[in-house]
Amino acid sequence: MKPKLASHGGPRVRETPLVPEEHLQARFGEEEKRALAEVIDSGHLCRVFGQRARQFERQAAEYFGVAHAVAVTSGTAAIHCALAAIGVGHGDEVITSPITDMGSVIPILALNAIPVFADVDPKTFNMTAEAVEKSITDRTKAIIPVHLAGQSCVMEPIISLAKERGLHVVEDCAQSYLSTCDGRQVGTIGDAGCFSLNDFKHITCGDGGFLISDDEELISRAALFADKGYPRTGPVRNSLILGMNYRITELQAAVAGVQLRKLASIVQRRRQFANTLNGLLSRIEGVQVPHIADGIEHSYWFYAFTVDSGRLGATAAAIAKEVTAEGVPVTFPYLGMPVYLFDSIKRTLVCGSEVSFHRGLCPNAEMVLEEMMVLPCNECMSERDARDIADAIGKVCGYHLSDGIQP
Ligand SMILES: Cc1ncc(COP(=O)(O)O)c(C=O)c1O
Repeated sequence: MKPKLASHGGPRVRETPLVPEEHLQARFGEEEKRALAEVIDSGHLCRVFGQRARQFERQAAEYFGVAHAVAVTSGTAAIHCALAAIGVGHGDEVITSPITDMGSVIPILALNAIPVFADVDPKTFNMTAEAVEKSITDRTKAIIPVHLAGQSCVMEPIISLAKERGLHVVEDCAQSYLSTCDGRQVGTIGDAGCFSLNDFKHITCGDGGFLISDDEELISRAALFADKGYPRTGPVRNSLILGMNYRITELQAAVAGVQLRKLASIVQRRRQFANTLNGLLSRIEGVQVPHIADGIEHSYWFYAFTVDSGRLGATAAAIAKEVTAEGVPVTFPYLGMPVYLFDSIKRTLVCGSEVSFHRGLCPNAEMVLEEMMVLPCNECMSERDARDIADAIGKVCGYHLSDGIQP
């Protein structure tokens, strides 16, 4: 019999919130409180005079198995520092993904460089080496692969291409802590890896970020850029390069240090939840679970899936609304448009010349954004949550697959 959808007055699959406040509160505990109290007691909240930011940088470098890390105020700041450190400037082109946050793009424009958007693989939603290759010109200086949603880009062909053409690679790892490609962690594959610690990420200190690298020169320029060009050594104050004030506070660094110790467990629990969900959703006709490219390990910052609208006779927007009415919130669209169509950049001035972007620039990205739906995914979610999600999606798809559109 055709199920009665909640959006048509039927019973909801899930009555209690899928992501209750307790899940968000559970992210922080006694350790974070203690770390914050220690900073307050130390009398130093600024990193110039305290120890916590430096400790966090050593901890992050060790954690990721690289030589150096610089902690800053956001993921955007981390990318800005990395690009500045490799010398991106006036009129250079930097290739990145059309499906990302503005944080990947703002630093390019802030350095008077031009963002160039390379289209994505319609199955993984990540930019491809083929699209990057087509976007390279004489002015290309760097590539920013964005590892979306928890899934690393396929890096080997991107790195080979970069080496062949003498380009820098700055990985945007904001959404993909601990995702791996051919056994290597994101952030350790390119010249630098940039992470966000904003409130929505795997780990957080409210707002913050950091970059990691084995390149000592890159890191020391990034550290200078993050502190107005001041080396903070010697008796005479001098600013060596033009930079910003992107100094993380001791308070943020203290929380980030505790959170980093929890990261492996957070990712492991998210993987467990997502694997359960993959198993349940893959049995539902018309649903496509996340496609994971060969050699990649996903770390599920969010869970992106698509439905076969043609087969179901309903748009992704309609399905998302109906599943949400069942008590399982589905975000659709993830982005209303590729970032190059955002008002702030679709027509912009770089070095006095107009740069504009138009619909049709990255057809795969535009198509994917009309289909991609996002489910909440966090480390506190249980097998029961996965079952409720699958029941809600199964009910809605079953409804559309059965004999017609009328209830
Ligand atoms: C892919 C990506 N890059 C960069 C950023 C920027 O990070 P932040 O918000 O810490 O500046 C984000 C944040 O949402 C992101 O998702």
